[in-house]
Amino acid sequence: MTERIQLAHLPTPIEALPLLSKMLGGPQLFIKRDDLTGLGFGGNKTRKLEYLAADALARGCQTLISTGAVQSNHCRQVAAAAARLGLGCILVLAGEKPGQPQGNLYLDLLSGAEVIFAPKDQRDRALAEVTKHAEAQNRKPYLIPYGGSNAIGAMGYRQAMHELHEQDLNPDWIVFATSSGGTQAGMLLGARETSSCAKILGISVDKPAQELSETIAGIANAGAELLQLETRFHPEEILVNDAYCSAGYGVLTAAEKEAILLFARQEAILLDPVYTGRAAAGLLDLIRHGFFKADEKVLFWHTGGTPALFAEPYARELLLT
Ligand SMILES: Cc1ncc(COP(=O)(O)O)c(C=O)c1O
Repeated sequence: MTERIQLAHLPTPIEALPLLSKMLGGPQLFIKRDDLTGLGFGGNKTRKLEYLAADALARGCQTLISTGAVQSNHCRQVAAAAARLGLGCILVLAGEKPGQPQGNLYLDLLSGAEVIFAPKDQRDRALAEVTKHAEAQNRKPYLIPYGGSNAIGAMGYRQAMHELHEQDLNPDWIVFATSSGGTQAGMLLGARETSSCAKILGISVDKPAQELSETIAGIANAGAELLQLETRFHPEEILVNDAYCSAGYGVLTAAEKEAILLFARQEAILLDPVYTGRAAAGLLDLIRHGFFKADEKVLFWHTGGTPALFAEPYARELLLT
């Protein structure tokens, strides 16, 4: 169950952000470029899919099924993984079918995924029906959970922490966007295995900190069991900041907009409007409130998502002054 197939371009580079660090008066900012994992425009889900798709193949499955929002980065990478591996792909997307497919949805369709739309409150029922139907047609479905966040998916960021260890940066902090929890759970597992001293701070995109910490601890503990590790994780030791998500999932506020324009114009780093834009807005706010010491090394982990920059309403709103 910890088998892996290669889908991502790894290791992803770590770059210094000297202009931004100087402009803000410290800390020393670095970025880990998981927007460059490569598969179908890349992002964090590709690392999870190296393990989830390996599990699907080991079980003889022939169709990857998953779910997410209309602009889901996860679903876009599932569709690309399926294409790469010669598997079918069915995506159940929560929301209305837009007139013109844009951003991630456009890429889902280019990759050949079958897309089904369902209202958010009926998504799970639609997913169960689609899976049953695929089974009845002998399409051998493999159901990938929302965000690829389970113990198997978490192996992707466990491995990423081993990769970071090899890269020898030794950051004091790792800051990134957290939502379904698999990325953070994997980081925690890998940090423990590599005895990393970095504080792993997820900026919640959409969920209260308490709820998300419990989810993350659950995934990390299931991962520890899978790896037959004695270690366990407790919600109280998991760092989640939910101060920046009150506008709601996917809502672009002045804070995300400022972060996106600042990173693009100071460092030529393109963030996304939903996840990394929100996490970077949180990072900037924390820096401005003196949360980090000026000489600390802070690694902002770019988790991808950039195709949503090309989808409405973001494409229009980002350039409005
Ligand atoms: C670009 C991007 N960043 C961060 C995340 C959050 O990762 P996780 O769901 O593993 O917490 C997602 C999840 O969809 C994402 O698409």
